Amino acid sequence: MLEIKDILWLIHPAIAIAWVFPLIGIAVYKSIQTRQRRLQVADGGKSKIPPVVGNEHVQVGRWLSASVVGIALIGIAHPIFTKMAAKNTFATEPGRFFFVLIMFALTIASFVFLLQARPKRWRAIFASLTGMGVILLGSQPEVYRRGELKDLFNPDVLKEIVVSHYYYGILATMLMIFSLAIVQEIYQDRKNRWRNVHIVLNSLATLLFISQAITGSRDLLEIPLSWQSPYVEQLYIKQCKEQPCTIEPAPAQPAQPTP
Ligand code: HEM
Ligand code: HEM
Repeated sequence: MLEIKDILWLIHPAIAIAWVFPLIGIAVYKSIQTRQRRLQVADGGKSKIPPVVGNEHVQVGRWLSASVVGIALIGIAHPIFTKMAAKNTFATEPGRFFFVLIMFALTIASFVFLLQARPKRWRAIFASLTGMGVILLGSQPEVYRRGELKDLFNPDVLKEIVVSHYYYGILATMLMIFSLAIVQEIYQDRKNRWRNVHIVLNSLATLLFISQAITGSRDLLEIPLSWQSPYVEQLYIKQCKEQPCTIEPAPAQPAQPTP
């Protein structure tokens, strides 16, 4: 049986699987067709792929970019707010609590403005603000990162960072924001330099998405449901990875005395 707590942390992976990954599939498929058509036409030949395919890729790309930013913010919001509620951060650190709330609002607003913006300067400004917002929110202590970048040269930390759902997720989010910001440049550049930059960066983004599927599934396996938590905590407390141990079922609740 799923408790409300369990349902809340399943929102992020559920949206990723049911909405974001199908969009990635469509965007990649349309992108390959866009390229095939462009090369066939550039060779002077005819293409069976309809001319509208480029537009369709961009439309799906805009949805994809918005969805990835959205899902990253949900993934970050869940640990922040559940841990803040548990530790009563509103009372102990009200400044940081309101800072986080305002940052969420500003980040979403900047992204909405980026979706509308046309002039280069505004696209650069709103893309930077959205990216900075996501990074600032992701840097909150409540978000589990598997290690800090400042300790990158420590081999033990590096081993964890290279399998981090957080760092790859943030990088993929930055690439989606950047793709949205350079749409006009891709169309205007006759030498196709921006188009090639786009292809290289988004091939990387596709690999990052695949790694998100792997590390996200691993995280799902590692985070227990509410009823499993007391047992799984014992695995860590008793260091069962290093030594043999026995996990006892939780002691039965003493019966309430009847009045
Ligand atoms: C999985 C992510 C993505 C991949 C793998 C991808 C890849 C590609 C490829 C291969 C092309 C064709 C390049 C060519 O003509 O040689 C392309 C075109 C383009 N992409 Fe993406 N892309 C992705 C996401 C996005 C996003 C998020 C946007 C932003 C809205 C975007 C905007 C564009 C634009 C404007 C074009 C030019 C379309 C045209 O020529 O009509 N792409 N992309
Ligand atoms: C576009 C793909 C995805 C992106 C950009 C993304 C991004 C993120 C980010 C930024 C976080 C917060 C940092 C963290 O706790 O690691 C997170 C958490 C998480 N993600 Fe993803 N994710 C993606 C796909 C997935 C998928 C496919 C799954 C599972 C099948 C998944 C499962 C999780 C889980 C279990 C957490 C921890 C949630 C929590 O602590 O409340 N993610 N994700």
